[in-house]
Amino acid sequence: MSATARKTAPNAEDIRARKGTEPLVSLTAYTTPMAQLMDAHCDFVLVGDSVGMVMHGLTSTLGVTMEMMIMHGQAVARGLQHAMMVIDMPFASYEESPAQAFRNAARLMAETGAAAVKLEGGVEMAETIRFLVRRGIPVMAHIGLTPQSVNTLGGYKVQGRDAQAEAVLADARAVSDAGAFSIVLEKVPQGLADQITHEVPIPTIGIGASVGCDGQILVVDDMLGFFTAFKPKFVKRYGELGPQAEAAIAEFAAEVRARNFPADEHMFADQPPSKSTKS
Ligand code: KIV
Repeated sequence: MSATARKTAPNAEDIRARKGTEPLVSLTAYTTPMAQLMDAHCDFVLVGDSVGMVMHGLTSTLGVTMEMMIMHGQAVARGLQHAMMVIDMPFASYEESPAQAFRNAARLMAETGAAAVKLEGGVEMAETIRFLVRRGIPVMAHIGLTPQSVNTLGGYKVQGRDAQAEAVLADARAVSDAGAFSIVLEKVPQGLADQITHEVPIPTIGIGASVGCDGQILVVDDMLGFFTAFKPKFVKRYGELGPQAEAAIAEFAAEVRARNFPADEHMFADQPPSKSTKS
């Protein structure tokens, strides 16, 4: 499915124009069925590099590859008709140079149909963002806690308290001036997130930031209760599907062991049914 086939989906400029209006709604998706479930409810869907931890059992996002992003991006695109699709640039696919970033961003968009890319970083990525935008690639920036930098940040900590606030503010200004159409603010204190939202002319999308942001995003497996390895403070569980799924699996296992499954209605008779009753 190409981006142009989804004629009703908003584009980057539509998202930018939502600044200060109705809150933007977004979730991550990695598969076709999940994308189908959220298509009517989200303004944009992010094929996040969280796919590495959520779907592949990696302990961080650092091991996520271009090939993984392309495979999941293609799957998500097949499930979307209405929502815009944004795709994450994986670690080491854009940091080296603007030219490297362009090559990989163009590949992600061409091979998945995504309408924009997201990349992590502030002041240090501004030149790259400007380079991409001027060459036709809409960029969503991601500042505050940037999980691909977990090793230099010293963990998944709140970013921008006290003396750090100025640096996060400078990141927001830099990516906005460089032409990003929106900014994800991850794990940023509420007051600072509100200040950034007030100052920059592009929508802020909060994840562990502030209810005052222009939109909110969560990792879908977190909010559905599918991913239970840990629960960040900023996650609200809107479902408990993990425990429900495990209970169903346990029931299946017990029924198989007790020879209660399959029952008559799940098996085929030796003789074909008469024409009036199909099975
Ligand atoms: O990869 C991801 O899930 C993200 C979050 C901000 C949603 O980047």
